[in-house]
Amino acid sequence: MDPTRTLVLYYSRSGYTRRAAQDLARHLEGATAEFRTRRYGFPALGVLRALFDVVIKASPEPQAPLPDLRNAGLVVLAGPVWAGKPAAPLRRMLGLGSVLPADVGLLLTSGEPSEPKNTYAACEALLGRPFAATAFIGNKIDGTDEMGERLAAFAALLRQRSSDAAE
Ligand SMILES: Cc1cc2nc3c(=O)[nH]c(=O)nc-3n(C[C@H](O)[C@H](O)[C@H](O)COP(=O)(O)O)c2cc1C
Repeated sequence: MDPTRTLVLYYSRSGYTRRAAQDLARHLEGATAEFRTRRYGFPALGVLRALFDVVIKASPEPQAPLPDLRNAGLVVLAGPVWAGKPAAPLRRMLGLGSVLPADVGLLLTSGEPSEPKNTYAACEALLGRPFAATAFIGNKIDGTDEMGERLAAFAALLRQRSSDAAE
């Protein structure tokens, strides 16, 4: 895939989503871009802020502007599950609306090993349309062959769905 047209846009507080996003971008032969914010970076205070922001449905500003997505063919939004919901920075990215291309994928990371179906649904409601495909990586499989296999399969599905849509 053309790297200028495939972008994995991610937020990661503690590194899990960053690793998964970078691995996925490699499978998609695309690029990554990070949503940066210092808001949740402090050890205990950061977690409290994260939980608070989920409750009040905050949609925090990134520290630096997000990349121009107008020419992207496929964007995958990636971020962690917080309290069963999309992390606040992911909420912000899901609200980008018409700036996002027709094909949007979703990659979640979670502490739990079970599929976060309710969080997928919450993300879809925020995006306002179905995702091209969804996947999740539980922390237990971080860095394992299972993670690589799951991301490779996800990349293959995204490629197939986005080329189907282009026909
Ligand atoms: C404030 C907060 C709330 C969380 N809530 C959940 C949760 O409800 N369910 C879950 O499976 N994991 C939960 N987690 C774990 C993260 O989703 C998981 O560690 C994720 O991989 C972190 O990604 P990151 O390192 O990219 O920030 C929570 C983590 C934080 C910091």
